Amino acid sequence: MSTPSALPDNVHLITHPLVQHKLTLMRKKEASTNSFRRLLGELASLMAYEVTRDMPLQDVEIETPLETMTAKVIDGKKLVFVSILRAGNGLLDGMLNVVPGARVGHIGLYRDPKTLVAVEYYFKMPQSMNERDIVVVDPMLATGNSAIAALDRLKELSPKSIKFVCLLTCPEGVAALHAAHPDVPIYTAAVDRQLNDHGYILPGLGDAGDRIYGTK
Ligand code: URA
Repeated sequence: MSTPSALPDNVHLITHPLVQHKLTLMRKKEASTNSFRRLLGELASLMAYEVTRDMPLQDVEIETPLETMTAKVIDGKKLVFVSILRAGNGLLDGMLNVVPGARVGHIGLYRDPKTLVAVEYYFKMPQSMNERDIVVVDPMLATGNSAIAALDRLKELSPKSIKFVCLLTCPEGVAALHAAHPDVPIYTAAVDRQLNDHGYILPGLGDAGDRIYGTK
């Protein structure tokens, strides 16, 4: 897969061989629902390493079997994974495997068939969002409409920081999200060729929600 040459600086393409290998297995049309979901979970855990790379560390005093020392820990509770329903939930468990203390928020959006505008139908977040670092997860950044609406809404809560993580995107999705939220870093395993007329990414992997839940 070729990579677009002019990605904004804050788009992080995760090129680790394990990530690329698992993504290829997921793209195959013959991948079963079971293996698609398992691979997405494994990929989410691998991507979580990259996304949490700059998490702040604190010093704590601990005792090893031999002596006392000052060691580093993260404060996982300050991190909130926000899943854009429903496909975002496919990334959640893998992320939580790596940061089990993180909090979780959910946002539900649907596209109005007449106006194509994203309409919110569910929004549930932990308290004190202004003290937290948010990682928004959705496997596919396609038109960018839901990602933009989710970030608009989350910024109203004045979080300390926001990142956006997807498995796959396309130049149109990156451009739309970056135009609306240039301050939000995007983490992705691939930037595919283009969006088709129905809002699907090409070559892509099809409808992520249907493939995660076997609903087609
Ligand atoms: N959502 C999906 O699930 N797949 C796409 O290709 C685009 C949006």
